[in-house]
Formats: sequence, structure tokens, C-alpha cells
Amino acid sequence: MSAHILVERFGAVQIIRMNRPEKKNAISREMYSAMTEALTDGDDRSAIHCHVLFGLPGTFSAGADIADFQDAATGGEPGAEALDFLLTLARCEKPIISGVDGTAVGIGTTMNFHCDLTFATPRTVFRTPFVDLGLVPEAGSSLLAPQILGPQKAFALLALGEDLGAEEAREAGFVYSVVASSKLEDSVLSTAKLLAAKPPEALRITRDLIRGPRNDLLARICKESEHFEARLHSDEARAAFAAFMRRKREMV
Ligand code: COA
Repeated sequence: MSAHILVERFGAVQIIRMNRPEKKNAISREMYSAMTEALTDGDDRSAIHCHVLFGLPGTFSAGADIADFQDAATGGEPGAEALDFLLTLARCEKPIISGVDGTAVGIGTTMNFHCDLTFATPRTVFRTPFVDLGLVPEAGSSLLAPQILGPQKAFALLALGEDLGAEEAREAGFVYSVVASSKLEDSVLSTAKLLAAKPPEALRITRDLIRGPRNDLLARICKESEHFEARLHSDEARAAFAAFMRRKREMV
């Protein structure tokens, strides 16, 4: 387990909370592993009927840890933790509800494509600067974003790197509900409890029918991951990672 991932269980609801405030919830390899373990464990336990994903007030997640990208780009072991997490997320059998307050970058945005209900707040901004970082989309977002948002909005998000605000995301069908930041946790948890109280097998089959067969999605996640890993070593990506790491020093 990771100190930066907190797992709590309330009745039949399991909450996975990203908790790395000093790095804006940038997701490290250890955090990916802890989330994979929690999702797998929750799916395996018959007493758990619903997963909830939370970040911190004002910051859902700044995306993957760019220090890990830089390490992989400069000869370090790339690791399979992120891919394992994404495949586990896509294979999940139980409903997933996310509560997103504030910044949601990279995988902080794309993990929500796998959620059955996403609650956001007026200050939530979804952003995926993959191309600006010399990278490509992940988490099956190159497949799911056009399906959910339509190809133009998907392109604006994934290629242009344009911000997607909470209301626009709700209108586009990416967000279920926009609630005040102070009401986010209560709204998510009361909905999770409602779901968790339903007959679990009927719920599982219904979810499965709505999500449809996953073979294409799993294949896309793997295909994106191959490109992503190759891109990590590109000059474009290396320059972008170095620029991000330099940014703070230059601001001092
Ligand atoms: N990976 C590693 N560290 C990250 C990070 C990331 N994805 N995002 C933020 N951090 C770190 C910063 O380096 C900084 O660390 P430091 O204080 O030790 O220097 C700390 O988190 C706070 O970040 P900061 O940029 O000062 O906060 P901010 O409020 O000004 O901006 C963000 C927040 C999320 C908008 C900004 O940090 C950002 O754009 N991060 C990168 C997002 C990204 O490109 N993710 C990858 C997508 S594939």
C-alpha cells in the first residue's frame, strides 16, 4: 500500500482517495499499484458493491508523476504499474463513482472515462496536455472520448489540449452532476450508498450491458501504452519533461 492512497470502507462502499497534496496528487508508480490493489480487492469482496474515487479539495490529480516519466526517459525502468492500473480500471465489475473537485490533468481526467457517474464542482477543469508533452492519450481515452464527447470535442481535449470546464463536461455527457465543492463528498457518497443497496447481480449485469464488450477498449489501452512508452524516449517528450521540472526553479 502507499501512504498517498487512502482506502476506506463504509458499508458496501469502498473509497479510494488520492492524497499527495505536496505534489498536487501527481500519481507515482507506488500510487498506481495501491489503486490497482484496492480496485481488485474491492471487486473480489462480495461485501463491497461500489467503488468511489476522490482526490483532494481543489485538486483531483495533476496526472502521472512527471518525475517518473523523466526517469523512464533517461534509462530508468518504465514499470508496468500505470498499465496495470488502467487495465484493472477497465475490467472493473462494480460501479465506479468519481468526485472531482478542481484540477484534473492527464490521467486525472482520463480515469473518469471509466467511471459510471462523475460528480464535478464549478471549479473543476479537465485537461490533457499529452501532445504538448510529446506524448499520446492513454486510458483508452482515444476511443472513449470521441464516443462520449464526439470527435470534435475529443480532439480539442486530447490533441489541442483545451480545458474542459465542469458545466461543458456535464452538457457533453462526461460529467453526471455539478455540485458545490462543499457538497461533493456528500453527493457522491449518498449516490454510492443508493447504488450499493441495490441487488448486486442485477446491477452488475446492467452495468456490463451499458458498458458493452471490453475487448476493443482493452486492446486500445495496450496500443496507446505501446505508443506512450515509445514517446517517453522521444526528444519532444524529454524536452517537455525537463522544461516542467525547470519551471519551478525559474519561478523562484
Ligand atoms: N508530476 C510531478 N510533479 C508534479 C506534477 C506532476 N504531474 N504536477 C505538479 N507537480 C509538483 C510540482 O513540481 C510542484 O512540486 P515542488 O513544489 O516540489 O516544485 C508541486 O507539485 C506543486 O505544483 P505547482 O505546479 O507548483 O502547482 P500549481 O498549483 O501552480 O499548478 C498544476 C498545478 C497541476 C496545474 C501544475 O502543477 C501542472 O500543470 N502539473 C503538470 C500536469 C501534467 O502535465 N501532468 C501530466 C499529464 S500526462
